Amino acid sequence: MSSRPENIATSTHTAVDVVLDTAYQNISGAQWANLFSFARKSKLEGFISDMFAGKHINLSEDRPALHSALRNLSKAPVMLDGKDVMPAVTEVWRRIEALCNKWVGVTDVIHIGIGGSDFGPRLAIEALAHVPGIESRGMRMHFLANIDTAELARILDRAQPNSTRVVIVSKSFTTLETTMNAKAVVAWLKANDCTKGQIANSLFAVTANVPAAREFDIEEDNIFPFWDWVGGRYSVWSAVGLPIALQYGFKTFEEFLAGAHAMDLHFKNAPLEQNLPVIMALALLHQQETLGIKAYAAIPYADALDWFPKWLQQLDMESNGKSIDRDGKPVKHSSPVVFGSAGSNAQHSYFQLLHQGSDVVPIDFIAVRKPMSDRPEAVAHHRILLSNCLAQAQALAHGKAADNPNDVYPGNRPSNLLLLPELNAFYLGALLALYENRAASLGALWNINSFDQPGVEYGKVLAKPIEKALLGSARIEANDSIDVVTALRINLLNS
Ligand code: F6P
Repeated sequence: MSSRPENIATSTHTAVDVVLDTAYQNISGAQWANLFSFARKSKLEGFISDMFAGKHINLSEDRPALHSALRNLSKAPVMLDGKDVMPAVTEVWRRIEALCNKWVGVTDVIHIGIGGSDFGPRLAIEALAHVPGIESRGMRMHFLANIDTAELARILDRAQPNSTRVVIVSKSFTTLETTMNAKAVVAWLKANDCTKGQIANSLFAVTANVPAAREFDIEEDNIFPFWDWVGGRYSVWSAVGLPIALQYGFKTFEEFLAGAHAMDLHFKNAPLEQNLPVIMALALLHQQETLGIKAYAAIPYADALDWFPKWLQQLDMESNGKSIDRDGKPVKHSSPVVFGSAGSNAQHSYFQLLHQGSDVVPIDFIAVRKPMSDRPEAVAHHRILLSNCLAQAQALAHGKAADNPNDVYPGNRPSNLLLLPELNAFYLGALLALYENRAASLGALWNINSFDQPGVEYGKVLAKPIEKALLGSARIEANDSIDVVTALRINLLNS
Protein backbone atom coordinates (compact mmCIF):
# COMPACT_ATOMS: atom_id res chain seq x y z
CA MET A 1 0.00 0.00 0.00
CA SER A 2 1.46 3.35 -0.96
CA SER A 3 1.23 6.33 1.35
CA ARG A 4 0.12 8.85 -1.22
CA PRO A 5 0.87 12.41 -0.06
CA GLU A 6 -2.73 13.37 -0.90
CA ASN A 7 -3.89 10.72 1.58
CA ILE A 8 -1.73 12.05 4.37
CA ALA A 9 -2.85 15.63 3.79
CA THR A 10 -6.55 14.85 3.84
CA SER A 11 -6.79 11.76 5.97
CA THR A 12 -7.42 13.29 9.40
CA HIS A 13 -10.80 14.61 10.44
CA THR A 14 -11.98 15.70 13.86
CA ALA A 15 -15.43 15.99 15.37
CA VAL A 16 -16.27 16.43 19.05
CA ASP A 17 -12.50 16.04 19.68
CA VAL A 18 -12.66 12.52 18.26
CA VAL A 19 -10.06 12.09 15.53
CA LEU A 20 -10.63 9.82 12.55
CA ASP A 21 -7.58 8.97 10.46
CA THR A 22 -8.32 7.18 7.18
CA ALA A 23 -4.75 7.25 5.79
CA TYR A 24 -4.54 3.47 5.70
CA GLN A 25 -7.77 3.16 3.70
CA ASN A 26 -5.63 3.69 0.60
CA ILE A 27 -8.29 5.79 -1.10
CA SER A 28 -6.97 8.42 -3.51
CA GLY A 29 -8.24 11.99 -3.70
CA ALA A 30 -10.03 11.20 -6.96
CA GLN A 31 -11.64 8.12 -5.42
CA TRP A 32 -12.84 10.15 -2.43
CA ALA A 33 -14.34 12.70 -4.81
CA ASN A 34 -16.25 9.90 -6.55
CA LEU A 35 -17.44 8.52 -3.23
CA PHE A 36 -18.79 11.91 -2.10
CA SER A 37 -20.44 12.39 -5.45
CA PHE A 38 -22.08 8.96 -5.07
CA ALA A 39 -23.29 9.99 -1.60
CA ARG A 40 -24.88 13.11 -3.10
CA LYS A 41 -26.46 11.10 -5.90
CA SER A 42 -27.86 8.76 -3.23
CA LYS A 43 -29.44 11.84 -1.57
CA LEU A 44 -27.62 11.17 1.69
CA GLU A 45 -27.90 14.80 2.83
CA GLY A 46 -31.68 14.71 2.36
CA PHE A 47 -31.87 11.44 4.28
CA ILE A 48 -29.93 12.95 7.21
CA SER A 49 -32.27 15.97 7.37
CA ASP A 50 -35.32 13.71 7.13
CA MET A 51 -34.05 11.56 9.97
CA PHE A 52 -33.59 14.51 12.34
CA ALA A 53 -36.86 16.09 11.18
CA GLY A 54 -38.88 13.07 12.30
CA LYS A 55 -39.93 11.97 8.81
CA HIS A 56 -41.14 8.38 8.60
CA ILE A 57 -37.86 6.99 7.29
CA ASN A 58 -38.68 3.55 8.74
CA LEU A 59 -40.89 2.81 5.76
CA SER A 60 -41.92 -0.75 6.56
CA GLU A 61 -43.19 0.25 10.00
CA ASP A 62 -44.30 3.71 8.88
CA ARG A 63 -42.57 5.62 11.67
CA PRO A 64 -39.56 7.85 12.25
CA ALA A 65 -36.24 6.92 13.84
CA LEU A 66 -35.95 9.70 16.35
CA HIS A 67 -33.50 8.35 18.94
CA SER A 68 -31.58 11.62 18.43
CA ALA A 69 -34.42 13.38 20.34
CA LEU A 70 -33.56 11.32 23.43
CA ARG A 71 -30.19 13.06 23.68
CA ASN A 72 -31.33 16.47 22.49
CA LEU A 73 -30.12 18.34 25.55
CA SER A 74 -30.83 21.66 23.82
CA LYS A 75 -34.53 20.78 24.31
CA ALA A 76 -35.22 22.51 20.98
CA PRO A 77 -38.57 21.21 19.70
CA VAL A 78 -38.50 17.94 17.77
CA MET A 79 -41.75 17.64 15.90
CA LEU A 80 -43.33 14.29 15.25
CA ASP A 81 -46.52 14.40 13.19
CA GLY A 82 -47.14 17.97 14.36
CA LYS A 83 -46.38 17.41 18.07
CA ASP A 84 -43.17 18.23 19.98
CA VAL A 85 -41.76 15.08 21.61
CA MET A 86 -39.36 16.96 23.90
CA PRO A 87 -41.77 17.59 26.82
CA ALA A 88 -42.29 13.82 27.20
CA VAL A 89 -38.52 13.19 26.88
CA THR A 90 -37.61 15.81 29.50
CA GLU A 91 -40.27 14.50 31.87
CA VAL A 92 -38.54 11.10 31.79
CA TRP A 93 -35.18 12.80 32.49
CA ARG A 94 -36.78 14.51 35.50
CA ARG A 95 -38.10 11.19 36.78
CA ILE A 96 -34.73 9.45 36.29
CA GLU A 97 -32.99 12.19 38.28
CA ALA A 98 -35.60 11.98 41.03
CA LEU A 99 -35.13 8.21 41.23
CA CYS A 100 -31.35 8.60 41.52
CA ASN A 101 -31.85 10.86 44.53
CA LYS A 102 -34.34 8.46 46.11
CA TRP A 103 -32.40 5.21 46.16
CA VAL A 104 -30.63 4.51 49.43
CA GLY A 105 -29.40 1.25 50.86
CA VAL A 106 -29.67 -0.63 47.55
CA THR A 107 -26.98 -3.29 47.26
CA ASP A 108 -27.98 -4.98 43.98
CA VAL A 109 -29.71 -4.02 40.75
CA ILE A 110 -30.89 -6.76 38.43
CA HIS A 111 -31.37 -5.32 34.95
CA ILE A 112 -33.46 -7.78 32.93
CA GLY A 113 -33.51 -7.27 29.17
CA ILE A 114 -32.01 -8.67 25.98
CA GLY A 115 -30.59 -7.33 22.68
CA GLY A 116 -31.05 -3.59 22.51
CA SER A 117 -32.47 -3.65 26.02
CA ASP A 118 -29.19 -5.08 27.30
CA PHE A 119 -26.09 -4.26 25.25
CA GLY A 120 -26.09 -0.46 25.59
CA PRO A 121 -26.48 -0.20 29.37
CA ARG A 122 -24.21 -3.20 29.92
CA LEU A 123 -21.47 -1.67 27.78
CA ALA A 124 -21.80 1.72 29.51
CA ILE A 125 -21.75 0.27 33.02
CA GLU A 126 -18.63 -1.80 32.19
CA ALA A 127 -16.86 0.98 30.33
CA LEU A 128 -17.46 3.72 32.87
CA ALA A 129 -16.34 1.49 35.74
CA HIS A 130 -12.83 1.95 34.30
CA VAL A 131 -12.88 5.74 34.37
CA PRO A 132 -10.32 6.78 36.98
CA GLY A 133 -11.96 8.65 39.83
CA ILE A 134 -15.55 8.25 38.59
CA GLU A 135 -18.15 8.64 41.33
CA SER A 136 -20.04 5.40 41.72
CA ARG A 137 -22.66 4.23 44.17
CA GLY A 138 -20.93 0.87 44.09
CA MET A 139 -24.10 -1.19 43.73
CA ARG A 140 -23.70 -4.63 42.20
CA MET A 141 -25.15 -4.24 38.70
CA HIS A 142 -26.32 -7.58 37.32
CA PHE A 143 -27.40 -7.96 33.72
CA LEU A 144 -29.79 -10.82 33.08
CA ALA A 145 -30.44 -11.46 29.39
CA ASN A 146 -30.18 -15.14 28.53
CA ILE A 147 -33.04 -17.59 29.01
CA ASP A 148 -30.30 -20.03 30.06
CA THR A 149 -30.65 -20.27 33.84
CA ALA A 150 -26.87 -20.26 34.27
CA GLU A 151 -26.93 -16.45 34.22
CA LEU A 152 -29.97 -16.33 36.51
CA ALA A 153 -28.40 -18.74 39.00
CA ARG A 154 -25.13 -16.82 39.10
CA ILE A 155 -26.92 -13.53 39.78
CA LEU A 156 -29.36 -14.87 42.35
CA ASP A 157 -26.49 -16.52 44.22
CA ARG A 158 -24.88 -13.12 44.71
CA ALA A 159 -27.79 -10.69 45.16
CA GLN A 160 -29.33 -9.86 48.54
CA PRO A 161 -33.11 -10.08 48.09
CA ASN A 162 -34.07 -7.49 50.70
CA SER A 163 -31.93 -4.76 49.19
CA THR A 164 -32.28 -5.64 45.50
CA ARG A 165 -34.05 -3.54 42.87
CA VAL A 166 -35.21 -5.14 39.63
CA VAL A 167 -35.47 -3.19 36.39
CA ILE A 168 -37.35 -5.01 33.62
CA VAL A 169 -36.42 -3.50 30.28
CA SER A 170 -38.28 -4.40 27.14
CA LYS A 171 -39.56 -2.16 24.39
CA SER A 172 -42.30 -4.66 23.53
CA PHE A 173 -42.68 -6.19 27.01
CA THR A 174 -43.44 -9.45 25.21
CA THR A 175 -39.92 -10.82 24.76
CA LEU A 176 -40.00 -14.32 26.16
CA GLU A 177 -36.51 -14.32 27.66
CA THR A 178 -37.23 -11.10 29.52
CA THR A 179 -40.72 -11.92 30.83
CA MET A 180 -39.69 -15.42 31.96
CA ASN A 181 -36.56 -14.14 33.68
CA ALA A 182 -38.63 -11.40 35.33
CA LYS A 183 -41.09 -13.98 36.65
CA ALA A 184 -38.21 -16.08 37.97
CA VAL A 185 -36.72 -13.10 39.81
CA VAL A 186 -40.11 -12.19 41.34
CA ALA A 187 -40.47 -15.83 42.46
CA TRP A 188 -37.01 -15.58 44.07
CA LEU A 189 -38.03 -12.41 45.95
CA LYS A 190 -41.16 -14.19 47.21
CA ALA A 191 -39.20 -17.29 48.16
CA ASN A 192 -36.91 -15.05 50.19
CA ASP A 193 -39.80 -13.70 52.26
CA CYS A 194 -40.03 -10.28 50.64
CA THR A 195 -43.49 -8.89 51.37
CA LYS A 196 -45.95 -7.79 48.67
CA GLY A 197 -45.14 -4.15 49.46
CA GLN A 198 -41.40 -4.75 49.30
CA ILE A 199 -41.76 -6.48 45.94
CA ALA A 200 -43.90 -3.65 44.57
CA ASN A 201 -41.21 -1.17 45.67
CA SER A 202 -38.47 -3.26 44.11
CA LEU A 203 -39.90 -3.70 40.62
CA PHE A 204 -39.36 -1.16 37.86
CA ALA A 205 -40.10 -1.29 34.14
CA VAL A 206 -38.76 0.54 31.12
CA THR A 207 -40.94 -0.02 28.08
CA ALA A 208 -42.87 1.32 25.13
CA ASN A 209 -45.74 -1.00 26.11
CA VAL A 210 -46.94 0.56 29.37
CA PRO A 211 -50.19 -1.48 29.58
CA ALA A 212 -48.20 -4.73 29.56
CA ALA A 213 -45.96 -3.45 32.39
CA ARG A 214 -49.08 -2.58 34.42
CA GLU A 215 -50.41 -6.05 33.81
CA PHE A 216 -47.16 -7.38 35.21
CA ASP A 217 -48.11 -5.58 38.44
CA ILE A 218 -45.52 -2.85 38.17
CA GLU A 219 -46.65 0.29 40.01
CA GLU A 220 -47.44 3.25 37.79
CA ASP A 221 -44.71 5.39 39.39
CA ASN A 222 -42.15 2.71 38.66
CA ILE A 223 -42.85 2.53 34.92
CA PHE A 224 -40.54 4.58 32.71
CA PRO A 225 -41.90 4.90 29.17
CA PHE A 226 -40.18 5.23 25.87
CA TRP A 227 -41.75 5.28 22.46
CA ASP A 228 -42.23 3.27 19.27
CA TRP A 229 -40.12 5.84 17.38
CA VAL A 230 -37.04 4.54 19.25
CA GLY A 231 -35.61 1.32 17.82
CA GLY A 232 -34.56 -1.19 20.51
CA ARG A 233 -30.91 -1.12 19.41
CA TYR A 234 -30.95 2.71 19.54
CA SER A 235 -32.58 2.89 22.98
CA VAL A 236 -29.73 3.26 25.50
CA TRP A 237 -30.36 7.03 25.46
CA SER A 238 -33.85 6.53 26.89
CA ALA A 239 -34.66 5.23 30.37
CA VAL A 240 -33.14 1.96 29.08
CA GLY A 241 -29.90 3.64 30.21
CA LEU A 242 -31.27 3.96 33.75
CA PRO A 243 -28.47 1.87 35.30
CA ILE A 244 -25.94 4.46 34.11
CA ALA A 245 -27.74 7.23 36.03
CA LEU A 246 -28.38 5.05 39.07
CA GLN A 247 -24.79 3.88 39.41
CA TYR A 248 -22.81 6.92 38.29
CA GLY A 249 -25.28 9.72 38.95
CA PHE A 250 -27.62 11.71 36.73
CA LYS A 251 -24.87 14.16 35.78
CA THR A 252 -22.83 11.34 34.25
CA PHE A 253 -25.90 10.14 32.35
CA GLU A 254 -26.34 13.69 31.04
CA GLU A 255 -22.70 13.78 29.95
CA PHE A 256 -23.27 10.52 28.07
CA LEU A 257 -26.25 12.13 26.29
CA ALA A 258 -24.25 15.32 25.70
CA GLY A 259 -21.47 13.46 23.86
CA ALA A 260 -24.02 11.78 21.62
CA HIS A 261 -25.88 15.05 21.05
CA ALA A 262 -22.65 16.77 20.04
CA MET A 263 -21.97 13.98 17.54
CA ASP A 264 -25.53 14.31 16.20
CA LEU A 265 -25.04 18.05 15.63
CA HIS A 266 -21.84 17.27 13.74
CA PHE A 267 -23.58 14.59 11.65
CA LYS A 268 -26.50 16.88 10.89
CA ASN A 269 -24.50 20.01 10.02
CA ALA A 270 -21.00 19.11 8.78
CA PRO A 271 -20.44 18.96 5.03
CA LEU A 272 -20.14 15.38 3.78
CA GLU A 273 -16.39 15.81 3.18
CA GLN A 274 -15.82 16.50 6.90
CA ASN A 275 -18.55 14.30 8.31
CA LEU A 276 -17.06 11.45 10.36
CA PRO A 277 -19.98 8.98 10.17
CA VAL A 278 -20.29 9.62 6.43
CA ILE A 279 -16.56 9.26 5.76
CA MET A 280 -16.48 5.97 7.66
CA ALA A 281 -19.53 4.72 5.76
CA LEU A 282 -18.01 5.65 2.40
CA ALA A 283 -14.67 4.02 3.25
CA LEU A 284 -16.48 0.75 3.99
CA LEU A 285 -18.47 1.01 0.77
CA HIS A 286 -15.22 1.59 -1.14
CA GLN A 287 -13.70 -1.57 0.36
CA GLN A 288 -16.81 -3.54 -0.60
CA GLU A 289 -16.54 -2.26 -4.17
CA THR A 290 -12.79 -2.65 -4.63
CA LEU A 291 -11.79 -5.55 -2.36
CA GLY A 292 -15.14 -7.34 -2.06
CA ILE A 293 -14.87 -7.40 1.71
CA LYS A 294 -17.45 -9.48 3.58
CA ALA A 295 -16.43 -8.80 7.17
CA TYR A 296 -14.87 -6.06 9.23
CA ALA A 297 -13.48 -5.87 12.74
CA ALA A 298 -13.73 -3.21 15.44
CA ILE A 299 -10.80 -3.44 17.83
CA PRO A 300 -10.87 -1.05 20.76
CA TYR A 301 -7.43 -0.77 22.35
CA ALA A 302 -9.20 -0.22 25.65
CA ASP A 303 -10.24 -3.07 27.86
CA ALA A 304 -13.11 -0.92 29.10
CA LEU A 305 -14.65 -1.17 25.63
CA ASP A 306 -14.58 -4.96 25.41
CA TRP A 307 -18.41 -4.94 25.17
CA PHE A 308 -18.36 -2.38 22.36
CA PRO A 309 -18.06 -4.91 19.49
CA LYS A 310 -21.05 -6.87 20.85
CA TRP A 311 -23.15 -3.70 20.96
CA LEU A 312 -21.92 -2.88 17.45
CA GLN A 313 -22.82 -6.32 16.11
CA GLN A 314 -26.48 -5.77 16.87
CA LEU A 315 -26.38 -2.17 15.67
CA ASP A 316 -24.86 -3.01 12.29
CA MET A 317 -26.13 -6.47 11.54
CA GLU A 318 -29.69 -6.08 12.84
CA SER A 319 -29.95 -2.69 11.10
CA ASN A 320 -28.36 -3.50 7.77
CA GLY A 321 -28.09 -7.29 7.47
CA LYS A 322 -30.69 -7.42 4.72
CA SER A 323 -30.86 -8.65 1.16
CA ILE A 324 -33.64 -6.46 -0.17
CA ASP A 325 -33.66 -2.69 -0.37
CA ARG A 326 -36.28 -0.11 0.58
CA ASP A 327 -38.06 -0.78 -2.72
CA GLY A 328 -38.07 -4.56 -2.26
CA LYS A 329 -35.31 -5.10 -4.83
CA PRO A 330 -32.17 -7.23 -4.24
CA VAL A 331 -29.30 -5.18 -2.80
CA LYS A 332 -25.81 -4.96 -4.23
CA HIS A 333 -24.23 -4.54 -0.79
CA SER A 334 -25.39 -4.84 2.81
CA SER A 335 -23.80 -5.17 6.23
CA PRO A 336 -20.58 -7.16 6.37
CA VAL A 337 -20.14 -9.54 9.30
CA VAL A 338 -18.89 -7.53 12.27
CA PHE A 339 -16.68 -8.87 15.00
CA GLY A 340 -14.04 -7.69 17.41
CA SER A 341 -12.75 -7.55 20.95
CA ALA A 342 -10.31 -5.52 22.99
CA GLY A 343 -6.73 -5.14 21.83
CA SER A 344 -4.08 -6.20 22.59
CA ASN A 345 -5.87 -9.46 23.53
CA ALA A 346 -7.30 -9.69 20.01
CA GLN A 347 -3.75 -9.78 18.57
CA HIS A 348 -3.21 -13.09 20.33
CA SER A 349 -6.33 -14.58 18.80
CA TYR A 350 -7.50 -13.85 15.24
CA PHE A 351 -4.88 -11.35 14.07
CA GLN A 352 -3.09 -14.21 12.27
CA LEU A 353 -6.04 -14.28 9.87
CA LEU A 354 -6.17 -10.49 9.64
CA HIS A 355 -2.50 -10.37 8.57
CA GLN A 356 -2.18 -13.47 6.40
CA GLY A 357 -5.66 -14.90 5.84
CA SER A 358 -7.01 -15.23 2.31
CA ASP A 359 -9.79 -12.67 2.91
CA VAL A 360 -9.23 -8.97 3.53
CA VAL A 361 -10.97 -7.74 6.68
CA PRO A 362 -10.86 -3.97 7.23
CA ILE A 363 -10.41 -2.84 10.80
CA ASP A 364 -11.48 0.10 12.92
CA PHE A 365 -8.72 0.60 15.48
CA ILE A 366 -10.13 2.58 18.40
CA ALA A 367 -7.57 4.08 20.77
CA VAL A 368 -7.79 6.34 23.79
CA ARG A 369 -5.12 8.97 24.38
CA LYS A 370 -5.18 8.82 28.21
CA PRO A 371 -4.49 5.67 30.24
CA MET A 372 -7.57 4.13 31.79
CA SER A 373 -6.35 3.61 35.32
CA ASP A 374 -4.36 5.57 37.85
CA ARG A 375 -2.09 2.66 38.69
CA PRO A 376 1.61 3.55 38.90
CA GLU A 377 2.17 1.29 35.86
CA ALA A 378 -0.52 3.02 33.79
CA VAL A 379 1.65 5.31 31.67
CA ALA A 380 4.17 2.63 30.72
CA HIS A 381 1.49 0.04 29.95
CA HIS A 382 -0.55 2.53 27.96
CA ARG A 383 2.46 3.41 25.80
CA ILE A 384 2.81 -0.27 24.93
CA LEU A 385 -0.93 -0.57 24.23
CA LEU A 386 -0.82 2.39 21.84
CA SER A 387 2.38 1.24 20.16
CA ASN A 388 0.75 -2.11 19.48
CA CYS A 389 -2.29 -0.44 18.00
CA LEU A 390 -0.21 1.74 15.66
CA ALA A 391 2.12 -1.12 14.70
CA GLN A 392 -0.71 -3.47 13.76
CA ALA A 393 -2.24 -0.87 11.45
CA GLN A 394 1.12 -0.22 9.77
CA ALA A 395 1.89 -3.92 9.35
CA LEU A 396 -1.55 -4.57 7.84
CA ALA A 397 -1.26 -1.64 5.44
CA HIS A 398 2.18 -2.30 3.99
CA GLY A 399 2.71 -6.00 4.49
CA LYS A 400 6.20 -7.46 4.20
CA ALA A 401 8.06 -9.29 1.46
CA ALA A 402 10.11 -12.38 2.32
CA ASP A 403 11.81 -15.30 0.56
CA ASN A 404 9.98 -17.78 2.74
CA PRO A 405 6.26 -17.70 1.71
CA ASN A 406 5.33 -18.30 5.37
CA ASP A 407 6.84 -14.95 6.28
CA VAL A 408 5.10 -12.95 3.56
CA TYR A 409 2.52 -10.43 4.73
CA PRO A 410 0.43 -9.44 1.70
CA GLY A 411 -0.45 -5.97 3.05
CA ASN A 412 -3.01 -3.69 1.41
CA ARG A 413 -5.32 -4.37 4.37
CA PRO A 414 -7.23 -1.17 5.11
CA SER A 415 -7.98 0.28 8.50
CA ASN A 416 -9.25 3.40 10.26
CA LEU A 417 -7.83 4.87 13.42
CA LEU A 418 -10.31 6.50 15.79
CA LEU A 419 -8.69 8.37 18.63
CA LEU A 420 -10.68 9.45 21.69
CA PRO A 421 -9.07 12.07 23.95
CA GLU A 422 -10.10 10.03 27.00
CA LEU A 423 -12.69 7.51 27.98
CA ASN A 424 -15.51 9.08 29.97
CA ALA A 425 -19.28 9.29 29.67
CA PHE A 426 -19.11 12.15 27.17
CA TYR A 427 -16.76 10.43 24.71
CA LEU A 428 -18.50 7.08 25.14
CA GLY A 429 -21.73 8.81 24.09
CA ALA A 430 -19.96 10.43 21.15
CA LEU A 431 -18.46 7.09 20.05
CA LEU A 432 -21.78 5.23 20.11
CA ALA A 433 -23.60 8.04 18.27
CA LEU A 434 -20.80 8.09 15.68
CA TYR A 435 -21.44 4.41 14.91
CA GLU A 436 -25.24 4.80 15.02
CA ASN A 437 -25.00 7.60 12.48
CA ARG A 438 -22.57 5.59 10.39
CA ALA A 439 -25.06 2.67 10.32
CA ALA A 440 -27.81 5.07 9.22
CA SER A 441 -25.52 6.50 6.50
CA LEU A 442 -24.67 3.03 5.24
CA GLY A 443 -28.37 2.16 5.13
CA ALA A 444 -29.02 5.27 3.06
CA LEU A 445 -26.10 4.51 0.70
CA TRP A 446 -27.21 0.89 0.27
CA ASN A 447 -30.90 1.96 0.09
CA ILE A 448 -31.68 -0.32 3.05
CA ASN A 449 -34.21 0.45 5.80
CA SER A 450 -31.92 0.32 8.85
CA PHE A 451 -34.73 0.55 11.39
CA ASP A 452 -36.73 -2.67 11.13
CA GLN A 453 -35.66 -6.27 11.81
CA PRO A 454 -38.18 -8.67 10.23
CA GLY A 455 -35.55 -11.41 10.00
CA VAL A 456 -35.59 -12.11 13.74
CA GLU A 457 -39.21 -13.29 13.79
CA TYR A 458 -39.35 -16.61 11.92
CA GLY A 459 -37.08 -18.54 14.28
CA LYS A 460 -39.17 -17.38 17.25
CA VAL A 461 -42.33 -18.72 15.55
CA LEU A 462 -40.73 -22.10 14.81
CA ALA A 463 -39.49 -22.43 18.40
CA LYS A 464 -43.05 -22.64 19.75
CA PRO A 465 -44.14 -26.04 18.33
CA ILE A 466 -40.65 -27.37 19.02
CA GLU A 467 -40.91 -26.38 22.66
CA LYS A 468 -44.26 -28.15 22.85
CA ALA A 469 -42.74 -31.28 21.29
CA LEU A 470 -39.86 -31.19 23.78
CA LEU A 471 -42.37 -31.08 26.62
CA GLY A 472 -43.77 -34.53 25.88
CA SER A 473 -41.75 -37.71 25.77
CA ALA A 474 -43.66 -39.23 22.83
CA ARG A 475 -41.76 -39.83 19.61
CA ILE A 476 -42.79 -37.26 17.06
CA GLU A 477 -42.96 -37.40 13.27
CA ALA A 478 -42.14 -34.56 10.91
CA ASN A 479 -45.13 -32.28 10.29
CA ASP A 480 -45.96 -28.89 8.78
CA SER A 481 -43.81 -26.95 11.21
CA ILE A 482 -41.13 -29.52 12.15
CA ASP A 483 -39.00 -31.09 9.42
CA VAL A 484 -37.39 -34.54 9.41
CA VAL A 485 -34.01 -33.38 10.74
CA THR A 486 -35.52 -31.39 13.59
CA ALA A 487 -37.96 -34.23 14.44
CA LEU A 488 -34.97 -36.59 14.79
CA ARG A 489 -33.17 -34.10 17.01
CA ILE A 490 -36.26 -33.69 19.21
CA ASN A 491 -36.52 -37.47 19.53
CA LEU A 492 -32.84 -37.63 20.46
CA LEU A 493 -33.36 -35.01 23.18
CA ASN A 494 -36.50 -36.75 24.43
CA SER A 495 -34.87 -40.20 24.56
O1 F6P B 1 -35.36 -10.24 18.64
C1 F6P B 1 -34.75 -9.05 18.35
C2 F6P B 1 -35.25 -7.92 19.21
O2 F6P B 1 -36.53 -7.55 18.82
C3 F6P B 1 -34.29 -6.73 19.16
O3 F6P B 1 -34.55 -5.90 18.09
C4 F6P B 1 -34.51 -6.10 20.48
O4 F6P B 1 -33.44 -5.26 20.83
C5 F6P B 1 -34.63 -7.31 21.38
O5 F6P B 1 -35.30 -8.27 20.59
C6 F6P B 1 -35.38 -7.09 22.65
O6 F6P B 1 -36.67 -6.60 22.42
P1 F6P B 1 -37.51 -5.93 23.57
O7 F6P B 1 -36.80 -4.71 24.01
O8 F6P B 1 -38.85 -5.63 22.94
O9 F6P B 1 -37.64 -6.93 24.67
